[in-house]
Amino acid sequence: MLELDYTNVLEDAVGAAQGIPRIAFDKAAESSVHLIGNLDAARKSGALGFMDLPFDDAPVKAVTEFARQRAMPNVLVLGIGGSALGPMALDSALARPNSGRRLVVLDNIDPDFISDTLETLDPKDTIVNVIAKSGVTAETMATFAIVQNWMIGALGEGRAREHFVVTTDPEKGDLLAIARHENYPVFVIPPNVGGRFSVLTPVGTLPAALLGFNIESIMEGARRAAHQARKPLLENPALAAAFIQFVLERERKKSILVLFPYSQALWKFAFWFKQLWGESLGKKLDRRGREVYYGQTPTAALGVTDQHSQLQLFIEGPNDKSFLFWDVKEFRNKLPIHHPYSNFDSMGYLQDKTMSLLFSAEKQATEIALTEAGRPNATITVDRIDEETVGELLMFSQYFTAYAGEFYDINAFDQPGVEYGKKLTFAMMERSGFSEYSGKIERVRQKGKSVIR
Ligand code: PA5
Repeated sequence: MLELDYTNVLEDAVGAAQGIPRIAFDKAAESSVHLIGNLDAARKSGALGFMDLPFDDAPVKAVTEFARQRAMPNVLVLGIGGSALGPMALDSALARPNSGRRLVVLDNIDPDFISDTLETLDPKDTIVNVIAKSGVTAETMATFAIVQNWMIGALGEGRAREHFVVTTDPEKGDLLAIARHENYPVFVIPPNVGGRFSVLTPVGTLPAALLGFNIESIMEGARRAAHQARKPLLENPALAAAFIQFVLERERKKSILVLFPYSQALWKFAFWFKQLWGESLGKKLDRRGREVYYGQTPTAALGVTDQHSQLQLFIEGPNDKSFLFWDVKEFRNKLPIHHPYSNFDSMGYLQDKTMSLLFSAEKQATEIALTEAGRPNATITVDRIDEETVGELLMFSQYFTAYAGEFYDINAFDQPGVEYGKKLTFAMMERSGFSEYSGKIERVRQKGKSVIR
């Protein structure tokens, strides 16, 4: 069962100026009851689809069946943002060497990156999953055009068709129309599930199934987290974690949230979470239309690697960060350390210990050092890394973010800043219907640049 250890955000641990009084949790347990009701009401009204996903068997069966028939050694995902980070997080957590399957994601349009990546792939061993909720995103559509030509050039039009599958909105968008025209199989993202909340739709589950992961178990874990997320605050890690970050950001000025997995498997998960947290909570307006400019900047550090890179800054630099560790109780391998160098001080103490013990000791050392320096930190722990716990962590994280949005009283489910950037790109590339943005671009161009050479 996923747990939240909040010892080190309390005043007793980090001092009154940086921490949260214990009593505040009891008060929040009472005052947050309506937030649980708010999310549940939004779910019941059909506005928030992400909460219902693990309770819907049909899409799970469909992707599993598709993967059984159509899996290939390479799964090439074309997508960006919420249409790429979920598959990457699942792959980084669950992939095993020698599985015979490989995920490759083209989530950037750097032309050298695309060309070099395609060179590493054999088209006949590659299934391409084009993912775009809107079905019009410039980066994904352009990459699709390149990859489709690459596939047709290698296999011919008829056989190439068998290598594409599309994940998109069920009703709108050019990608859907193209998929129908080409007769590509289509998996749908429910309209009431936003891009960054879509990992448990076929956006995440189809690549996961094609990679051989057990989707049923992912959903089982997600259901467990969903049940936990409807309980009162003191039994609800997602709600309590949201309360903690809200108080630390608003009242203790922790404007940066450092995601700190002590697990290599969860490293890409941190990137998925960065988008979820940043795009959901970074908002100019609150629900009443007041200019608030909310948002805690998420950043990632990897235990133990970043102990030798960023930790000095974290301990002695500006006290503007809150830390969220992600820990794992049991690793698949303990990795005992045996060696013939017991007479060397730097090796002797390691004899007959395990790498997992050293990993855990280093995490505790980092936690103690941060706490002593008055840096509030909390830990999310999962029992182990497998499909179930990853599903649990994904659902926990989405509730955590949604509850934070409730504390801030903002809409955590839109992204006007991202949409505006997309429109400017369309105008710059002369897509019809976006000329109203061309004037803005022209005005910026006319101002000229200040450049030093
Ligand atoms: O969370 C979001 O809605 C965005 O980050 C999208 O995921 C991203 O812009 C990609 O959009 P699309 O799936 O329409 O290509």
